[in-house]
Amino acid sequence: MKIVKTKNYEEMSRSAARILAAQIIVKPDCVLGLATGSSPVGLYKHLVAQYEQGELDFSKVTSINLDEYKGLAPDHEQSYRKFMNTNLFDHVNIDLSRTFVPNGMEADSEKACSSYDSRIEAEGGIDLQLLGLGNNGHIGFNEPAEAFATGTHCVELTQSTIEANKRFFASEEDVPRYAYTMGIRNIMQARKILMIVSGKAKAQALRDAVCGPVTPKMPASILQLHKDVTIVADEEALSLMD
Ligand code: F6R
Repeated sequence: MKIVKTKNYEEMSRSAARILAAQIIVKPDCVLGLATGSSPVGLYKHLVAQYEQGELDFSKVTSINLDEYKGLAPDHEQSYRKFMNTNLFDHVNIDLSRTFVPNGMEADSEKACSSYDSRIEAEGGIDLQLLGLGNNGHIGFNEPAEAFATGTHCVELTQSTIEANKRFFASEEDVPRYAYTMGIRNIMQARKILMIVSGKAKAQALRDAVCGPVTPKMPASILQLHKDVTIVADEEALSLMD
């Protein structure tokens, strides 16, 4: 596991964007596993800027997102599909038909999840998986649990995640209670993992994930078992680590 320490969010974003950009340059037809939330917004801005300067070509890239709220339509303001379009896809030359997000409108969870697993397999797996870290240690929407979930599955969001995500919705009641998410196996099968972490609120989770026991009660701790993980984190996020 490699940890890159940065001064702040901006430097974290720039540094992580360089790693993602390098992946696209060395393998133009790569499969990127992408994430949403506040952590990658700055990183996506850097990628867009690099594209605009002619340094990056997304035309052969495939993207597969980690998760989506169950019940939100792709054009819902808070859907992860909308987030990806707004923050990245609308601004670069990626082929939209090569961008995948779980289908939040599929009411049949079994169907939504198994077709997503098939999609990941059909694309030959993920070359580089980008992750954020939840305050409670979740990755994707793999919440603290008694066992690691393997493939794509439907989760009931924990109260702490609903609390953390209500800032994006009009009120807490509007936060969907369920989501479709890649499982731990999907994430661990990615050939490389890049996790970005910023801010004091994540410091305890980051410390437990990196230095604590590997346990489904701290989902990100499983990353200790992956052979190619880079964590780019700012000083505040790393403040509880020696
Ligand atoms: C987003 C995702 C989540 C977030 C995590 C951190 O696709 O899967 O695991 O990465 O909740 O969210 P932020 O970045 O908003 O703090």
